[in-house]
Amino acid sequence: MKIYLDTANLGEIREAARWGILSGVTTNPSLMARETGAGFEETIRTICGLVDGPISAETVSEDADGMVAEGRAFAAWHRNVIVKVPSTTEGLEAVARLGERGIRCNVTLVFNANQALMAALAGAFVVSPFVGRVDDMSVDGMELIREIAAIFELDPDIRTQILAASIRHPRHIAESALAGAHIATCPYKVLLKCMQHPLTDRGQRSFLEDWRKREAEMALPAAVDD
Ligand code: G3P
Repeated sequence: MKIYLDTANLGEIREAARWGILSGVTTNPSLMARETGAGFEETIRTICGLVDGPISAETVSEDADGMVAEGRAFAAWHRNVIVKVPSTTEGLEAVARLGERGIRCNVTLVFNANQALMAALAGAFVVSPFVGRVDDMSVDGMELIREIAAIFELDPDIRTQILAASIRHPRHIAESALAGAHIATCPYKVLLKCMQHPLTDRGQRSFLEDWRKREAEMALPAAVDD
């Protein structure tokens, strides 16, 4: 399973990109509205320069004509832009029409398996089931990923990838992978939490303490020239 970062914050994207784990970035209007400084187009273009993978930019029109017009403009900004449209009937039409032009779409705000199936049939590149928001309704969000994965598996014509979204904590990531998601898009703070473990810190501390006791005798190799 691949990891995307779910943010429009350039500092977070730069930092996570350094770790060598990022395959893409997703944004949405709320995440965009949280950032100040640059406009939408400049932000998306900058993200495309930081991460060489699918970068989702979300439409804000409510009708298919508007989504198609926005999507065509977004796609012209960079070859990695994926047009994000809502899981509505207008959104389905936009996916089909943008697909005819070779423009890839991410169908977002998916809360049931039928929405995912319809998005796939319209030709979506990825579908985004919102795990955390389903959990918030006292329903198992991971079951939604499992159901979509099982349905997609049954139809060899479906190439749409499952992008687990609304990831709230580290277990959501591992469980999404086990449930059959192709991608999980994660907030920066959740990725940081994944790498925090008290036994890692304790082990590293004790390795270095032991090393330093005999450091003088343990000559490290010289740095290799580029
Ligand atoms: O990718 C969608 C995601 O940003 C929604 O997350 O935490 O607002 O439910 P959340």
